Amino acid sequence: MEKKDLDWASLGFGYVQTEQRYVSNFKDGKWDEGGLTTDANIVLNECAGVLQYAQTCFEGLKAYTTEDGRIVTFRPDLNADRMYTTAQRLEMPPFPKDKFVEAVKAVVKANAAYVPPYGSGATLYLRPYMFGTNPVIGVKPATEYQFRIFCTPVGPYFKGGAKPLTLCVSDFDRAAPHGTGNIKAGLNYAMSLHPIVEAHKAGYAENMYLDAATRTKVEETGGANFLFVTKDGKVVTPKSNSILPSITRRSLMIVAREYLGLEAEEREIFFDEVKDFAECGLCGTAAVISPVGKIVDHGKEICFPSGMDEMGPITKKLYDTLTGIQMGRLDPPEGWIVEI
Ligand code: PLP
Ligand code: COI
Repeated sequence: MEKKDLDWASLGFGYVQTEQRYVSNFKDGKWDEGGLTTDANIVLNECAGVLQYAQTCFEGLKAYTTEDGRIVTFRPDLNADRMYTTAQRLEMPPFPKDKFVEAVKAVVKANAAYVPPYGSGATLYLRPYMFGTNPVIGVKPATEYQFRIFCTPVGPYFKGGAKPLTLCVSDFDRAAPHGTGNIKAGLNYAMSLHPIVEAHKAGYAENMYLDAATRTKVEETGGANFLFVTKDGKVVTPKSNSILPSITRRSLMIVAREYLGLEAEEREIFFDEVKDFAECGLCGTAAVISPVGKIVDHGKEICFPSGMDEMGPITKKLYDTLTGIQMGRLDPPEGWIVEI
């Protein structure tokens, strides 16, 4: 199979239309058979549930070309699980988990020419999503839905790739204590647009959100979880019911313990402790592991000892091991790598 003639190394995190996408419709209480289509456009009624009350959710995962030329995805079953939970919270009919994984495989296979070559620095990003399609004017769940998966080749989420980022502590809240922060609802991202535009205008790459109830604990950014490394080499990550349970973060905790022999702990992290950490990074499917060099809290700077030039040494080991597993250079834990 011949690859598309794209300048893989120059890709940013953007949309490139590919050939095939998966579509399934929910009507009369059940999902239809579903299948691939070349039509990238969607026609909706003006009163569709998604347009009126933002009844939509999504997922994100990647396909990789391994060192020995296979095409693989990373833990798609966990994306299927999380989308199931998200749908339940949003009163949407969950998409069957086995069909989710089959649809992921079908989309990657049909667009194999767009899976970036090994070593190019790019990957194929898959975007499963679901939305209410029938007219809804009273505030209630839709009765008809569409589930889709498209894919697009992407480069690094943050410009500059592995260069340490500068973040700011946001004055906005991302998620309420008993709200929707722990699911992947589109509405969580709609509300983050104003804070991220403000942060970018002020020269920051992302926002650090604190817990909405007390504003004393670290939560996450708009699109990634935090990882910190203590001065004695322990990996710590925030525990909270209002952050997204990142698949990358959950995987990295296992990588830290089982591949690197490090202590790794999920616990509440107070903002006051952040100045004492040796390293900081953001982790997620899009972010992979992006190092953080500096966090600015209303003019007060926290500068991590790892500096603004390179990833901290433990962050780098985590990055190399995780991407080594994803690109087939290291043996994966059972079930992590799904071959197409
Ligand atoms: N947190 C938020 C708010 C996100 O949008 C994402 C991206 O999916 C993550 C964390 C990272 O999650 P994952 O590692 O499953 O991609
Ligand atoms: C992902 O990492 O897949 C996300 O959905 C995060 C988003 C900021 C692109």
